[in-house]
Amino acid sequence: MQGFAGKVAVVTGAGSGIGQALAIELGRSGAKVAISDVDLEGLGHTEEQLKTINAPVKADRLDVTEREAFLAYADAVNEHFGKVNQIYNNAGIAFTGDIEVSAFKDIERVMDVDFWGVVNGTKAFLPHVIASGDGHIINISSVFGLFSVPGQAAYNSAKFAVRGFSEALRQEMILARRPVAVTTVHPGGIKTAIARNATAAEGLDRDQLAKLFDKRLAKTSPERAAQVILDAVRKKRARVLVGTDAKILDVMVRLAGPYYQQLFGPVIGRIMGPKA
Ligand SMILES: NC(=O)c1ccc[n+]([C@@H]2O[C@H](COP(=O)([O-])OP(=O)(O)OC[C@H]3O[C@@H](n4cnc5c(N)ncnc54)[C@H](O)[C@@H]3O)[C@@H](O)[C@H]2O)c1
Repeated sequence: MQGFAGKVAVVTGAGSGIGQALAIELGRSGAKVAISDVDLEGLGHTEEQLKTINAPVKADRLDVTEREAFLAYADAVNEHFGKVNQIYNNAGIAFTGDIEVSAFKDIERVMDVDFWGVVNGTKAFLPHVIASGDGHIINISSVFGLFSVPGQAAYNSAKFAVRGFSEALRQEMILARRPVAVTTVHPGGIKTAIARNATAAEGLDRDQLAKLFDKRLAKTSPERAAQVILDAVRKKRARVLVGTDAKILDVMVRLAGPYYQQLFGPVIGRIMGPKA
């Protein structure tokens, strides 16, 4: 896959899953890649694979919730490569728990990483991406940014917020005639470590939730997800749905309007089984 030769791309959460696959596919397509994660072991694997294919890479520890560090990182990447064309705000975490039993801190943590991490990355890199003259901001939401399900209020809130933020940004860039495209990504179930890395409200069995996700919900490989995302980036699409599940669910929600809530609630209830 070609099309990114000479471009500088930044990928957060690049130590695993979609971020790792994006970084490698970008490297294969000719981009110079700045990768970061809080998981240094995973990040090291991604760096090794990029070096194997001779892709120029800069690897750093970065927690996307640390705003000052993110701002300094943006300047450092710009200085290192001389410009920045693209940022993939990908780092994310999941949490399962009904609102009634979820602690404030668990909801806040998801918003901090999944929403504020995207805001930090966008704001930190926007001046550089504009200055590149050919910029692109790619924010990873989810199908859970298109509809809500019980047990996912924190994640739903963060992913709806990413969508709102990114769709406003795209329109602002067009109105201000900035040379920056914005793409919002809505993956369905992707076979990554997300559920194994996830936390859950007290009383829920995390292992069981992870097994359920891996067995019944994760359908698309991260490599395929990366190809679909990069294809949409090439075409400067406003929105990309990743996976057949995402496409079907999107149509169902559009057709059902608010009544989707009556359909999805019982289905999710059956999949999740009796509550602990
Ligand atoms: N896997 C799916 O089914 C799916 C579906 C829809 C959306 N997504 C989204 O895709 C993105 C990537 O998830 P994934 O499935 O590859 O999960 P993953 O757990 O395999 O990878 C996420 C990476 O983000 C890193 N990370 C977590 N918190 C961080 C922080 N504070 N700062 C920096 N890095 C941090 C993790 O260490 C990990 O390497 C996330 O935003 C996720 O919400 C995933």
